[in-house]
Amino acid sequence: MSQQEVVYLDGNYTPKFKASLSILDRGFLFGDGVYELIPIHNKKIFYMDDHFKRLKKSLELINIDPIIVDEIDFEKIINSLIVSNDYTNHFIYIHISRGVDNFRNHIYTENITPTVLVMGEKYQPFGIEHIKEGKKAIIEDDYRWLKSNIKSTSLLANVMIKNKANSYDAYEALLIRDGFLTEGSASNVFIVKDQIIKTPKLSNKLLPGITRKFLTDIISMHTLTFEESDISKDALLDSDEIFCSSSTNPVVPITQLDNKLISNNAGPMTMTIYNHAQDFIKGFQK
Ligand SMILES: Cc1ncc(COP(=O)(O)O)c(C=O)c1O
Repeated sequence: MSQQEVVYLDGNYTPKFKASLSILDRGFLFGDGVYELIPIHNKKIFYMDDHFKRLKKSLELINIDPIIVDEIDFEKIINSLIVSNDYTNHFIYIHISRGVDNFRNHIYTENITPTVLVMGEKYQPFGIEHIKEGKKAIIEDDYRWLKSNIKSTSLLANVMIKNKANSYDAYEALLIRDGFLTEGSASNVFIVKDQIIKTPKLSNKLLPGITRKFLTDIISMHTLTFEESDISKDALLDSDEIFCSSSTNPVVPITQLDNKLISNNAGPMTMTIYNHAQDFIKGFQK
């Protein structure tokens, strides 16, 4: 982190290493808040309207008035951080917690002022060699709560699961609930079988990923065959290709799942979608 890097916290622009919060912030005490991670490509905010729509939905679902997203000029704040911190290809993290309460109590005081943080995060996406080679994933039970459609800052289960994957040298854990694929610990999951691209349909069991939406736009732009459908654990293991999607890495091929080799390298359909996505991002000027 550069000493000069600036973040936005509750109306003020502050150096990142100096920004601090009250210990009574409910985000700190309870993980009582929601967030967004938005890619910046060519200094422009990627899929901005979709990210803000999801942020409002997440706020609504945890009973924080989503009007805050209209009242605060996030676009101006993000553009100001892009200029002050010279972000070209970067990520913006927005965190809204319920705010600072008078004491630690599960029951919140109604209408306290939410805490709002906007800061840049640097993630290095995988280079082409890593993509072509593909990554390993493990299968894990989806033991998270049943409101995984909320982009909640309470990420303990996801943290535990992703660290388990990491301990197996795997990029991701693909989650199974009641015998069916939901998503990854920090990504959505697509499979390819007999030239058909499939992903689980949206529900309370998975996050409506913005990259998932971006890729379905790419898929329809290029008239590839696609369906949203239930994917059983057996069907997952029997896939011709698998890939994960997220804002940090739009398309990550999974070539090994537990001990099962899915493919020797990233599959052809995965690479087609990866290349189309990269072309779109390179040309992205909003
Ligand atoms: C659980 C989960 N699912 C899916 C995604 C992908 O979402 P997006 O494409 O909006 O980054 C993420 C991203 O962080 C995630 O944490």
